Amino acid sequence: MQLKDEIDFKELLKNPVRLFGASYLYFLLAGGFLGVYYIWNMNDVSRNGTPPVIPADSTRFIEDIPMALGVRIPPVDVKNVASPTKELVEKGAVLFKANCASCHGENGMGDGATAATLAVKPRNFHDAAGWKNGRKVSEMYKTLQEGLPATGMPSFNYLSAEDRFAMIHYVHTFGTDIPKDTPEDLANLEKTYSLSKGVQLAPHIPVKLAMEKLEKESRSEVNAVNEQTSFLEKQQDATAKFIKALAVDEKKIVTTALNAAAKKSLNDFIKIVSADPFTNGFKPEVLRLNTDEWNTVYNYLIKLSHSNKS
Ligand code: HEC
Repeated sequence: MQLKDEIDFKELLKNPVRLFGASYLYFLLAGGFLGVYYIWNMNDVSRNGTPPVIPADSTRFIEDIPMALGVRIPPVDVKNVASPTKELVEKGAVLFKANCASCHGENGMGDGATAATLAVKPRNFHDAAGWKNGRKVSEMYKTLQEGLPATGMPSFNYLSAEDRFAMIHYVHTFGTDIPKDTPEDLANLEKTYSLSKGVQLAPHIPVKLAMEKLEKESRSEVNAVNEQTSFLEKQQDATAKFIKALAVDEKKIVTTALNAAAKKSLNDFIKIVSADPFTNGFKPEVLRLNTDEWNTVYNYLIKLSHSNKS
């Protein structure tokens, strides 16, 4: 068949099914358009179309776990501390000045020095309206145990239960017509917080501080390896030359030796290096060392780390 016949339009129309081939053009064009469109908008393709939502009190984002010792909260009998006594109120007054006055004010008016910096103002204890958890002993205990997330009212769960009851009774002296707890309220309080058992709080440090400590530790390790490697490079004695001849990467050798030294064992060193000489900085020839030679290499590297302590 001749090419001339193939593209003869009249011939094609006689057999319209063959026109189907023209749809190829359509897909080509559509693909082409999409491609151009994509390249045209390249800058925005991977960009997030919706900006992140930052809540009004964005300080919550940068809040960290506070530093706290692992304290033991001694058990307490609710019956003895749920009602105010002269001793409890006096103790509460002292504790209030130390722990609460900075926000709630010396006289509980919600006007402490820190209050100005808080988005949600600390409660005025003279005012009975609008309390979130409530003014009963059991309700205020919940506030002191859990804090009020998102307001700035912190948890005081690290203070002893008795201290917290003492402060609650002192805070009550600012108000009038304080609602009374029912026996069920107190039973539930005991049940919820296991007051008669006491609790052991785990110690914790802020994440930021933990990261700094980790970084410092690994930095000092890296420094030690660097120092000892450059020290080894400078040595010209026979053993140093022997080790350098075996080395693919002196830094790795020093690191392996330091790790083995931490376990104080030649055996560990041999095991680690033999399992994978290359990863540990050695040429494969190291596998042919005899026991004396292993000993020499290991002890030399260990001494290096001792003689070079800064
Ligand atoms: C860092 C500042 C700050 C400190 C310190 C602080 N508070 Fe608060 N407190 C607040 C804020 C803010 C609120 C929230 C007010 C609100 O939500 O209406 C609040 C609310 C309260 C409430 C009301 C709970 C409710 O049901 O609405 C009580 C009770 C309370 N605090 C007791 C105390 C006691 C007792 C102490 C000391 C042990 C203390 N606070 C220490 C800031 C503080």
